[in-house]
Amino acid sequence: MDINIAGVFYSKEEIAKRVKELAVEIEECFGDEDIVIVGVLKGACVFVTDLMREIKNDVILDFMMVSSYGMSTKSSGVVKIIKDVDAVVEGQNVLIVEDIIDTGLTMNYLRDYFQRKGCKSFKICTLLDKPQRRTCDVVADFTGFEIPDKFVVGYGIDCGEKYRNLPYIGFVQD
Ligand code: IMP
Ligand code: MG
Repeated sequence: MDINIAGVFYSKEEIAKRVKELAVEIEECFGDEDIVIVGVLKGACVFVTDLMREIKNDVILDFMMVSSYGMSTKSSGVVKIIKDVDAVVEGQNVLIVEDIIDTGLTMNYLRDYFQRKGCKSFKICTLLDKPQRRTCDVVADFTGFEIPDKFVVGYGIDCGEKYRNLPYIGFVQD
């Protein structure tokens, strides 16, 4: 899928600065406790690896994969777990790291899912938030940037599996 990148929302440098700030917020929240960081594949792959390297707590890194948009730019409305966490999360502090919260459907589902697993605490960190698009009652504990309702790519975020390798976050022409 080839798209026209209409502009840049955040440069490589702006993202790096915000990631450092988020790490400080996260450290303040968790104190000296250990954290199980769960990156949501594939979109959060770049963000989670940058973020975890800024966090000084003892962390375990794990990944989940859930179905979201597939090859389309519209949500199918159905959340399916394709890969679950390997780590034991019962009694642990879990920080789920997502690329974008859009309708909130994915995070709403994952929040219930982790609460049923008996975590000690469950927090959400998202790089991007599109609050205008929300259909579920989901608020992230840590948000990189709030963005308008535009389709974005880069820094791990794809369009039809392409553009994840862009170092910046760009947006697509409507
Ligand atoms: P939600 O369940 O509607 O909140 O969808 C969240 C997921 O949709 C994110 O994890 C992304 O993978 C995907 N998504 C939402 N907006 C965009 C976008 O602008 N570009 C690429 N993927 C997006
Ligand atoms: Mg995603």
